[in-house]
Amino acid sequence: MILPDSKIELARRGNKVVYDLGDKIAKVFNDTKPVSDVFNEALNLARINECGIRSPKALEVTEVEGDTTGWALLTSKVPGTTLAEKMEAEPQRFGEYLEQFVDLQIEIHHYTSPLLNRQRDKYARMIGGLEAINATQRYNLMERLDGMKKEFKVCHGDFNPTNVIVGDDGELYVCDWAHATQGAPAADVAMTYLLFALGSKEQAEAYLDLYCERADMPKQVVRQWMPIVAASELARKRDLEESFLMSWIDVFDYQ
Ligand SMILES: Nc1ncnc2c1ncn2[C@@H]1O[C@H](COP(=O)(O)OP(=O)(O)OP(=O)(O)O)[C@@H](O)[C@H]1O
Ligand SMILES: [Mg+2]
Repeated sequence: MILPDSKIELARRGNKVVYDLGDKIAKVFNDTKPVSDVFNEALNLARINECGIRSPKALEVTEVEGDTTGWALLTSKVPGTTLAEKMEAEPQRFGEYLEQFVDLQIEIHHYTSPLLNRQRDKYARMIGGLEAINATQRYNLMERLDGMKKEFKVCHGDFNPTNVIVGDDGELYVCDWAHATQGAPAADVAMTYLLFALGSKEQAEAYLDLYCERADMPKQVVRQWMPIVAASELARKRDLEESFLMSWIDVFDYQ
């Protein structure tokens, strides 16, 4: 397909550009992104659509030609504003938005989707291939992963306020299911905690307190996941602070 001239750029990151096409959204990847990852994101989204979680609808995976080229994922557009934009525009209401955010994540963690990729397999693969740490550290992380309770709940994998859209209809929708798996909610919480902590330690602690209180989850379990989640994030090589993630991998005593 060829993208219309009327398209509006919403976000530009390392390997992709997100466009608003009016009634649809196109996430267009450059050629460093394996095509199978684009299809995987589409498949994740289709599974999430099928289990009933409010999210954009997966429409197609297509090769874009013309001025903009690359493989693209097309989804329905959810008209609205992200929770991140709301939090920034009204910092005095941060607490209120955080409550909505946490309740939504807890709601997602009640869903199951038995065909989604498994979180444990994904972490094991990422730790196994991580060059930034040595074999001893990798072994410690793998052992830690093996010891964690086995659960099979829907986990978004990148749950942060930029991926939550407050729809014009007043409902909350969740986008960006590229990293979704079935697994342990506490691991998903550890990821969200790390994402908050990159910007503000205070917000991260407020988030963790609220999630654990409302979900009746021990904070210690979330903390046990942190080195594993930090290592997997390091393997993703996003723009996140490498030294920050390394400090989370090192923080625990491996004696
Ligand atoms: N279906 C949609 N409807 C409305 N807005 C959307 C939709 N999909 C994406 N957006 C907007 O575009 C932004 C970027 O999209 P998305 O989160 O999917 O990409 P990303 O964060 O770059 O991906 P990744 O986390 O996989 O690197 C979102 O934060 C949101 O503001
Ligand atoms: Mg996103």
